Amino acid sequence: MGFKSSDPDEVSNPRMLNAPATIGDLIELRISRRLFLGGAAATAVAGAAGCANSGPSRAPGASFTFAEIERAMDDTHHAPAGYAADVLLRWGDALFEDSPPFDPMHQTAAAQRRQFGVNNDFIGFIALDPAADGSARALLCVNHEYANAKMMFPGVEPDYPALLTKAHCEVEMAGHGSSIVEIVKRDGKWRPVIPSKFNRRITAETPMSLTGPAAGDDRLKTHEDPEGRTVLGTVFNCAGGITAWGSYLMAEENFHNYFGGELPDGHAEAPTLKRYSVGSSPRFVWGRYFDRFNLGKEQHEANRFGWIVEVDPFDPTSTPKKRTALGRFKHEGAESVIAPDGRVVLYSGDDERFEYVYKFVSDRKYVDGDRRANIDILESGTLHVARFDADGTLQWLRLVFGEGPLTAENGFRSQADVLIETRRAADLLGATPMDRPEDVEADHRTGRVYLMLTNNNRRKADQVNAANPRADNKFGHIIEIIEPDGDFASTTSRWDFLVKCGDPADPAVGATWNPATTKNGWFGSPDNCAIDPSGRLWIATDGNAETGAADGLWAMETTGPLRGAGRAFFRAPIGGEVTGPRFADDGTTLFLSVQHPGDDGTTFFERPLTRWPDFSHEMPARASVLQINKIDGGPIGS
Ligand code: FEO
Ligand code: CA
Ligand code: CA
Repeated sequence: MGFKSSDPDEVSNPRMLNAPATIGDLIELRISRRLFLGGAAATAVAGAAGCANSGPSRAPGASFTFAEIERAMDDTHHAPAGYAADVLLRWGDALFEDSPPFDPMHQTAAAQRRQFGVNNDFIGFIALDPAADGSARALLCVNHEYANAKMMFPGVEPDYPALLTKAHCEVEMAGHGSSIVEIVKRDGKWRPVIPSKFNRRITAETPMSLTGPAAGDDRLKTHEDPEGRTVLGTVFNCAGGITAWGSYLMAEENFHNYFGGELPDGHAEAPTLKRYSVGSSPRFVWGRYFDRFNLGKEQHEANRFGWIVEVDPFDPTSTPKKRTALGRFKHEGAESVIAPDGRVVLYSGDDERFEYVYKFVSDRKYVDGDRRANIDILESGTLHVARFDADGTLQWLRLVFGEGPLTAENGFRSQADVLIETRRAADLLGATPMDRPEDVEADHRTGRVYLMLTNNNRRKADQVNAANPRADNKFGHIIEIIEPDGDFASTTSRWDFLVKCGDPADPAVGATWNPATTKNGWFGSPDNCAIDPSGRLWIATDGNAETGAADGLWAMETTGPLRGAGRAFFRAPIGGEVTGPRFADDGTTLFLSVQHPGDDGTTFFERPLTRWPDFSHEMPARASVLQINKIDGGPIGS
């Protein structure tokens, strides 16, 4: 079976596999319903009558003025009138002077290592000094999340996956990781700079250091790395972050997909591997050809994935660092913000049904302008996990060895154990099981943090809680976290719903949108988000096809009378998901990833749903980065 990144089948949380909500949860839920129905006046509860038709393009009080695009689905992408959406980088595009042309019928790992990788996701933008002619320059840091051999290689359909060879796997490995690309803006459009001293490919084989409290731990030692300090590569890099000191963070998400083979009976790592669903549903066949991905031969390699990787994008010879202090789980993203006292705070969701939301607070303080002082700031700090209480408070619980239940009695011997088994530690602390936490983005101007909860079709009626109040939550919701006085390092916060997604015209869905939301403005399955330079929220979806329309990007008001009103800005081609939204610093360009275009899970290389963006029979569908510019050169969205 092929797969889209959006369909993790797993439920690994033992608290939710069979257990209904506790009585405490149900009491909390009743309190919470009263609280939110009575108190959250800003977010209107829209029933069938609450959804206005598409009317004037500018509602009173709106900060967005673009003309909404239509809810629909077809073979290409769509942006509003007055905007140009152009392909910037496609799978297989050249990044270096010696990059061979993309030849989809004769792919090699050597070629792929010199080309833009597969299924681009996160996009980071780091402004550089202008070029000699005054043109704007920047580094684009792009994750390549995962490969799908069915859509990637010709000739595997007759007997997939049996036909996959070692050479196929090597091309897949070379397509993973990231591309760091210098870009320059001339005549109103960005283009790649080749050659550039910055351009780099990172792959599933690039040597990386393990750093922080778990580095060198016995559980991270393998046959190939008896020191437990050097890992080859990174996989399933979903979202990520750019830090205040100009480093690039790559989040390792669904790493369980890569490990095949059978774990020896009674192996000590079995419970931990199970908690991360490693071995339950491998979607790659790398374990056939590479011992480190075969659980029968190597039992510790999986412990070396599921981390946040920090990259210095200014030095293509630098060794990426896996920062173990930030915990091990299926990290969706890694956006950070500086707390008022200077500590670095990083939010990250664990994207699986019933998993948790985390917040890391560094020990050391950020020093403005001193990159050397900041570069290893993520080496040490305190990881917390969220408990959303029904009275609107949010407690951030410390994941620290020796505190509370995180002791030898429960099998933890050190902080390394707490970090390698972050999920089990969070279970014991009573964290709130969420509806697939995806991206989290903080607004440093307001102290508000936006959390995307994409969906959860496994939550039963007796498993709801205050922050996840809908059973069979097909369409997800967005929570706003309010940090007290903008103190991102606080261990007590407030929370509220921004919207509950889905069709507001169908009362059975239980969606809540601002009543000004048009028939195009609502969506399902929020995934990635971005805050533009004016502080406005934008949301990309992964799974909006469940609502009958393509995935896309929506703008959303978060303050004023239109709080909770969505507005449709961009639509992906059929089968595609929108990821990685990122604004240039001046707000005049929006970069977007379109992932897995033409893929519905049953499709193959030879018969995609669309051959976007080339529309040539000689080219497969290709994930690409788009740049969206307003034709008059003004800020995006207004
Ligand atoms: Fe890779 Fe959670 O999406
Ligand atoms: Ca997703
Ligand atoms: Ca995602």
